[in-house]
Amino acid sequence: MTHSDRLADHKTPLEARSSGSLTGKVRVPGDKSISHRALILGALAVGETRISGLLEGEDVLNTAKAMRALGAKVVRTGDFAWSVRGVGVAGLAQPDAPLDFGNSGTGCRLVMGAVAGCPITAVFDGDASLRSRPMRRVLDPLELMGARVGSSGPGGRLPLTLSGARDPLPILYRTPVASAQIKSAVLLAGLAAPGITTVIETEASRDHTELMLRHFGAQITSLPEGRHGRRIALTGQPELHGAEVVVPADPSSAAFPIVAALIVEGSDLVLSDVMTNPLRTGLFTTLREMGGSIEQSLVRDDAGEPMAQLRVRASKLRGVEVPPERAPSMIDEYLVLAVAAGFAEGTTIMRGLKELRVKESDRLEATAAMLRVNGVKVEISGDDLIVEGKGHVPGDGLVATHMDHRIAMSALVMGLAADKPVRVDDTGFIATSFPDFIPMMRAIGAEFS
Ligand code: S3P
Repeated sequence: MTHSDRLADHKTPLEARSSGSLTGKVRVPGDKSISHRALILGALAVGETRISGLLEGEDVLNTAKAMRALGAKVVRTGDFAWSVRGVGVAGLAQPDAPLDFGNSGTGCRLVMGAVAGCPITAVFDGDASLRSRPMRRVLDPLELMGARVGSSGPGGRLPLTLSGARDPLPILYRTPVASAQIKSAVLLAGLAAPGITTVIETEASRDHTELMLRHFGAQITSLPEGRHGRRIALTGQPELHGAEVVVPADPSSAAFPIVAALIVEGSDLVLSDVMTNPLRTGLFTTLREMGGSIEQSLVRDDAGEPMAQLRVRASKLRGVEVPPERAPSMIDEYLVLAVAAGFAEGTTIMRGLKELRVKESDRLEATAAMLRVNGVKVEISGDDLIVEGKGHVPGDGLVATHMDHRIAMSALVMGLAADKPVRVDDTGFIATSFPDFIPMMRAIGAEFS
């Protein structure tokens, strides 16, 4: 079912209730960030890229469609196995229809970067959530590189028309917010520019684009900058060659069964192949600080991306303070961390969450609302979120999803350990990132109805 079908259709509500221990071994789907990048870089490379473990969620499937519309040969060759035959750097073809990215900010913004380096024009569009999200943050640097925005929605929002540069310019760009999407868009456009494109970030964001560009043969360096930042320099006009990409399990998806196992009494759960890139594991650090038992073993590495097996056991959690500089490494995990904080004893303060306001929904407001409606005391103070944990969550609330997959999954996790059931108004958007969430959670003991 596509987004537009879903919108026209009715919502699919679900209730989660107090469950027995969650046990077993699971592999959550492939990492969303890496899946998008594998398709996009595969399309910009010469020769074949073979991807295993691709996330076959709606967001990534929309990127696959977009790369096909831009001239790459993208074929599903088996379960989670895909082959991409690329067109080479700057070789994307003009699409003959608008590119629809559905709910996905990452797919949309990264492909804008790729298109900005090619002499073609493309229309970018998405669902109501994506149409409400800021695009100027990506368009500003792409215009400096020579791309041009034709018509757009208010404030540069979707739907918009982007014309790539015939002769893109390499730039030095300081990202105004820690965002891997902005950084990646500039680097992808920089592939087509002569000379060195440099991105400076004051807070390091996830570095999958840099690691994968290197894996595909680009010359790229990343040096520390200031206390928490990076200076990334890409040499333009490389010949990217097709590569093998093994997509590890997504830590942002693993976050849901992990928190569920921590809060449901008696749980003992193993998750395999979870990506443990340090720029993604802020949640694991925080949960351990809260007293969560998360043991790591079988650590290995593929093309620079580390992964490990995690064993999670139910734990008594305590409130902690999460520093603002940790935000980029757990930006998608605050919703489910707030759930864990509700079950902890004591106050959890999460600082520096401004960016949560411009995700698939306003996640700062949505997190507070999700907790409040289920009887947890919560406060937003500036850009900070403060949750008063009482060791249990009353539940009995109906949570509004706001077209946001992570709200739906967080609320369902909460219901597995709350005193009374928790309902969500719509589970449809879970398919954007974790299509098998409901059956996988049921298989380990989750009670949904
Ligand atoms: C992503 C970057 C993050 C994150 C998103 C995926 C990526 O967004 O929230 O889910 O793959 O680059 P920002 O870069 O806007 O922080």
